[in-house]
Amino acid sequence: MVLDKDLIMDSLRRVEDPEIHKSLVELDMIKGIEISGDRVVVVVNLTIKGCPMKSKIREDIVYEVGKLEGVDEVEVVFDAMSEEEKRKLREKLYGTQKELFKGIPVIAIGSGKGGVGKSTITANLAVTLGKMGHRVGLLDGDILGFSIARILGIAHKKAQLLSKNTLLPVEEYGIKIISMGNLVEEDEAVVWRGPVLGKLLDQFFNDVYWGEIDFLLIDLPPGTGDVPLTIMQKIPNSKFVVVTSPQPSAARVAGRLWTMSQKAGIEVVGIIENMSHFVCQNCGEIHYIFGKGEGERLSLKTGTELIGEIPLKKEIRMTSDEGRPIVVEDADTFELYKSIAERLVRKVRG
Ligand SMILES: Nc1ncnc2c1ncn2[C@@H]1O[C@H](COP(=O)(O)OP(=O)(O)OP(=O)(O)O)[C@@H](O)[C@H]1O
Ligand SMILES: [Mg+2]
Repeated sequence: MVLDKDLIMDSLRRVEDPEIHKSLVELDMIKGIEISGDRVVVVVNLTIKGCPMKSKIREDIVYEVGKLEGVDEVEVVFDAMSEEEKRKLREKLYGTQKELFKGIPVIAIGSGKGGVGKSTITANLAVTLGKMGHRVGLLDGDILGFSIARILGIAHKKAQLLSKNTLLPVEEYGIKIISMGNLVEEDEAVVWRGPVLGKLLDQFFNDVYWGEIDFLLIDLPPGTGDVPLTIMQKIPNSKFVVVTSPQPSAARVAGRLWTMSQKAGIEVVGIIENMSHFVCQNCGEIHYIFGKGEGERLSLKTGTELIGEIPLKKEIRMTSDEGRPIVVEDADTFELYKSIAERLVRKVRG
């Protein structure tokens, strides 16, 4: 077989950019191919000069091209894209994302009342959906009170800026995540005011390259005010899940949020009652520490299905604090989340 550039190009179609998950060829990242005898030089146009995935790309190219008959030596040379080339790439990527966004279900998780466990639930639900084989994106919509990156233990992983307007999410547990915690340091004082906050949110919605995903989950900030609803209105057809605790006060605020979402034409697909009950580890008795039945009552009142009741468990708090989603290590909790996720998927997909 005569070695030619087409043959090499074909083999490079099997090499993906490890962050964008598309072939280098499709991304126009192959800048040149030189053949001299049994030696091949591949010039790769990286998106960012100091791309941390360089060595993986090199390894994959050497492997794929090295497999070809007649190739003895493969050299990979790196170059970086110009601003114009990056702009073209961005266009290419977002062209498909826009189409996809129309079709993918977006599920926002809110509560009205703060501290009832939205972020913990959203993070674990996202990981559960991922474990169930769905391709999941998770967006931390709580710009000021961001906590998703910490709960998932990925605050040390910073999101890569592909170009001025293209942000690559962080990947962990088989899902894609973007949280303010992946952009700034944990204890950095975030003093952005209204307009800046809105701009940042817009960036989160417009500039993150999710690639192909089946669901996008959004962790909403607390409150029934402007912010949660603004977020939801940014994405048409987003569905809403309301989290409450069994305390009457939490259920009342959740009810208010429900009413507001109705007015805004946003569909609430389910209610989750968190910290529902406590099972004594010694005697097995169930204690209703925060009261009983508020989730159920809210469900009846609003005609919205109660899709889950999550117990109060020390391990949930501990794993969250330590940055390990509990569904990864506790089989019972995973099963519980799986049943919630299954109901949610059914509801969302109709
Ligand atoms: N089922 C549970 N059992 C025990 N602790 C829990 C449970 N759910 C959440 N927590 C703990 O409660 C605290 C608040 O949870 P979380 O941050 O998820 O709430 P939130 O509603 O997102 O808060 P905010 O309104 O501030 O965004 C955390 O310390 C979390 O670990
Ligand atoms: Mg939160």
